[in-house]
Amino acid sequence: MTHPRIRKAVFPVAGLGTRFLPATKAIPKEMLTVVDRPVIQHVVDEARAAGIEHFIFVTGRNKGMIEDHFDHQFELEATLSSRGKDAELKALLADLPRAGETSFTRQQAPLGLGHAVWCARDIVGNEPFALILPDMLHHNTQEFGQPCIKDMIEAYNEHGGNHVAVYPVPDDQTHQYGIVGVVDRAAKTSAITKMVEKPAKGTAPSNLSISGRYILQPSIFALLAAQEKGAGNEIQLTDSMLKLAEIEKFFAMRFDGKVYDTGTKTGFLSANVAYALSRTDIAPAFKIELKEILKGVEL
Ligand code: G1P
Repeated sequence: MTHPRIRKAVFPVAGLGTRFLPATKAIPKEMLTVVDRPVIQHVVDEARAAGIEHFIFVTGRNKGMIEDHFDHQFELEATLSSRGKDAELKALLADLPRAGETSFTRQQAPLGLGHAVWCARDIVGNEPFALILPDMLHHNTQEFGQPCIKDMIEAYNEHGGNHVAVYPVPDDQTHQYGIVGVVDRAAKTSAITKMVEKPAKGTAPSNLSISGRYILQPSIFALLAAQEKGAGNEIQLTDSMLKLAEIEKFFAMRFDGKVYDTGTKTGFLSANVAYALSRTDIAPAFKIELKEILKGVEL
């Protein structure tokens, strides 16, 4: 059986980034850089590499810079061109989605992730879609590894239904994430048994966290429309996914690389180090600096 192709990806980018003040006072947190690319560019790259053709951003007030980032910057391009900086210009243009491939809508109030996704309902329409949380960078450390969302689209092409990527977290952190229970812990992709948003300490069904990558059927929108509040008094996506799992197939796919939560200071700094070390143009010099810094640091 063939399943409808995944063409669209939703990126919720309305969050205020209060954990990064004052850095995020005037700059959207998604524009903070991991090495030399904004966090949002990293996840758009991931989606493009998986064949996504339409990028839907659910923004909020003061997020206009994200829209500008995915548009031409005429002065800059003209200057690079007149100075013969062809390689830089080519790289810049290669990052741009083509005309008509982006859509922007606004979440007018911070009511939760479920509400942000619901705001994209008309732009997504009646087709399954990918959902990518930009804070969560999925770094593929495996030799033949591919972008997480590409792996998930392949699993979806095989099984259909709905999918979340999962990533093991230490037991004392399960209360910070959505957590799923799975039928077959050893399998890369397994049907889920349970799903709970931010379980109270000691009650998590497993240590598999929902890591911010989803493939969802459009039927999620009708469930989200009820706008019921859950954990943290927010409209939680996980609560509607749980209802969806009662009527449709739902799978969890283990991500085997490393996930960095760039919404936390430690995750953000670690992502910068890891991504720099995997860049052949930067790593040699950076390793020397890093060794120097770590000399005498008690680890
Ligand atoms: C959201 C989801 C949660 C998921 C997490 C990953 O929570 O609701 O299920 O585990 O993203 O970052 P938030 O980070 O918005 O609290």
